[in-house]
Amino acid sequence: MSDLPNDIKISKVSESKISNVDFNKLDFGKIFTDHMFVCDYKDGAWQTPEIMPYQPLTIAPSARVFHYGQAVFEGMKAFKDEDDQIWLFRPEDNHDRINKSSHRMAIPEFPKDFFFEGLTQLLHLEKDWIQKGKGNSLYIRPFVIATEEAISASPASTYKFMIICSPAQSYYAGEVKVLFAEKFSRAADGGVGFAKAAGNYGAQFYPTSLAHAKGYQQIIWTDASTHEYLEEAGTMNIFFRVGDTLLTAPNNDRILDGITRKSLIQLAKDSNIKVEVRRVTVAEIKEAAKTGELKEIFGAGTAAVINPISGFEHAGDKFDLPKLDNSYATFFKEKLMNIQYNVSEDPHGWRYKV
Ligand code: COI
Repeated sequence: MSDLPNDIKISKVSESKISNVDFNKLDFGKIFTDHMFVCDYKDGAWQTPEIMPYQPLTIAPSARVFHYGQAVFEGMKAFKDEDDQIWLFRPEDNHDRINKSSHRMAIPEFPKDFFFEGLTQLLHLEKDWIQKGKGNSLYIRPFVIATEEAISASPASTYKFMIICSPAQSYYAGEVKVLFAEKFSRAADGGVGFAKAAGNYGAQFYPTSLAHAKGYQQIIWTDASTHEYLEEAGTMNIFFRVGDTLLTAPNNDRILDGITRKSLIQLAKDSNIKVEVRRVTVAEIKEAAKTGELKEIFGAGTAAVINPISGFEHAGDKFDLPKLDNSYATFFKEKLMNIQYNVSEDPHGWRYKV
């Protein structure tokens, strides 16, 4: 256990960069706020955290993160309501998940009090970077890297836990079409697919760039052994609406335990929308697309929120999805955002006031 870090060392910037930022034209994850949170692990313990001006790091080229990818991260968002109050959404789940990811990657877990105190102090400093209005948020990226100078292939003895923040609007600009994976895989049984391990994401870049070249923004990954079951989209979990029923894959050790995903499953139950959490086959989705029963596909994730998919391809067969007036994607996005932006009741206690 840790002592509460009431002595977080804080050094502020002399001048904020905020006046140079056009908040109406944000490319996702390109602009960072004035400060960052840093906490080092050494001698078997997390040290006193610091908040300091956002700046480059000096890390030895032999640091294990560069050689073995011993690194994990999280994605969270802060929202501002009409009364200038700042809210996080289910942040305890992000803390739990980064520690699950860390555990799998042999990284020491990060104490909860450090996590919450660091986030709170950082967000208070950066409050002007959180813009009001639905669709505006501050994307928060906690991450941990192995810093020990040593290139034998074993876990490090020193780490850096950091939090950086980036003002955000939408993750995807424009329509999203997807390719169902036939050859490449994102994760295997017993692997790290459930974790937000950095390498999980890096390994998707090459196949995704091939998909891009064919006009698809994302791949929907299928199970590695048969490629018959639809799993997740890498940046998002994935939902299918067949008739009026929502289908999504169950969590397993290949699929990220998405916070937006589980919130949507709950919201669907609250709204008496039938949800089936079960394995979903490529064959049934193609068949439903042919018969017109497939009404929607959408992705759900922190960065992407709820993103409709306008079409897909599998084995050379291409399908376009209809544009619906009353889509589930719009319905759930509205419901979710009303909770996130403190517009509606929060029956499940998901909001966290900073
Ligand atoms: C998030 O939604 O926060 C993620 O971590 C996905 C990321 C690859 C942008």
